Formats: sequence, C-alpha cells, structure tokens
Amino acid sequence: MQGNLPTRAIMNGQVALELIEGDITVQATDAIVNAANSSLLGGGGVDGAIHRAAGPDLLRETRQLGGCQTGDAKMTRGYKLPARYVIHAVGPIYQYADPGVATLLASAYRRSLELATEQQLNSIAFPSISTGAYGYPLAEAASVALRTVIEYGREHARPALIRFVLFNQSILQEYQQVLLGFLQKNWVDPA
Ligand code: APR
Repeated sequence: MQGNLPTRAIMNGQVALELIEGDITVQATDAIVNAANSSLLGGGGVDGAIHRAAGPDLLRETRQLGGCQTGDAKMTRGYKLPARYVIHAVGPIYQYADPGVATLLASAYRRSLELATEQQLNSIAFPSISTGAYGYPLAEAASVALRTVIEYGREHARPALIRFVLFNQSILQEYQQVLLGFLQKNWVDPA
C-alpha cells in the first residue's frame, strides 16, 4: 500500500493486478503493451519510447501487419526490449459524450489480454492507454481499464500478472483511487 492507497489486488485467488510508477520500456514482463495508432508505424509518447528501445527491427515487423483497428491489438516480437513480445493496442481518440469510446478502450485492453492468453504468457504490462495524446480523461480511462482487466482476470488464469506501469505519481494515484473503489465494492480482493 502506497500511503493508504492500494497498489495490488488479486482476482479469483490466482491473477495478480499491480500498479507501479515507471517506464514501460524497461519492464521484463513476457509482453508489454504499446499505446499505438492504427497505422502501427510508430509515433510519440509510449509508442515512440517502445520503438526507440526495441530498435528498427520492430518497425520492420509492424510494417508487415497492415495496421490495426481501433479497439484491436496485434502482437510482435520485442527485439532489444527486455520483454519478449510487444502487443500493439489501438485505443480510441477521446470524443466528449461519445459512449463508443469506453467500449473501444475496454476492447483494446481485452484484445491485448486475449493475445497474451493465446500465447500462454504469464505476465503483461500496460500503459495508461489513450490518456496522453488521445485525450481520454484519466479517471474515466482508469475505471474502464481496471474494470476490464478485473473482469478478464476473474475468467482467465493467464496472464497471472497484469501490471499497470504509470508514468508519474499523479497518474499512479489516480489508478490507486479507482482500485480502492473496486476493493471497497468487493469487485476484487486485496492482495
Ligand atoms: N512508460 C509508461 N507510460 C508512458 C511512457 C513510458 N515510457 N511514455 C508515456 N507514457 C504515458 C503517458 O504519460 C500517458 O499516461 O502513456 C500514456 C499514454 O500516452 P500516449 O503515449 O500519448 O498514448 P495515447 O494517449 O494512447 O495516444 C496514442 O500517441 O504516441 C502516439 O503513436 C501514438 O498516435 C498514437 C497516440
């Protein structure tokens, strides 16, 4: 517990949810998730950091994928990254009062988890998808993200570790506040 806010929880007694502050490019989980755009040809933010750390072979592979729909995800190797795989997820660009964005954001997380399960990965690290350049309000996005991964973790034993890597203290605290709410509602168990 950081201060009196939670940083961990457990789903179904078997899947661990973890919130940390840090840089997703140094995470040694089996996969890290990229907050990509639909071209899969790189960009700024997380996308830029992951491509820089992985090296040029990553772009050579993503070029072959023919892009990715918003709300979907595609997997590549990790190349020079500590993570074996990169899962490129495309979150929605936030549109005020458009109910579809929450569905698309949830889908980006769920599709990433489905790919990890299919590859029988044990661990995955997520950034806070769509909350940077794509303008998704942080509290709403954190609620969609954590609800989606908690629901998924209740139904699937793998990945057994779902980590959120949040780029600064204030983003981490926002996710901790949301997790506290879910713990208080008993939607997830304390670790
Ligand atoms: N590690 C972890 N989190 C990071 C890192 C990093 N190295 N760099 C940035 N972030 C955080 C941001 O602070 C933000 O909270 O990732 C979150 C997502 O921000 P963006 O990277 O801007 O992603 P997004 O809002 O989904 O916009 C995607 O931006 O970079 C382009 O090509 C990308 O067009 C796409 C768009």
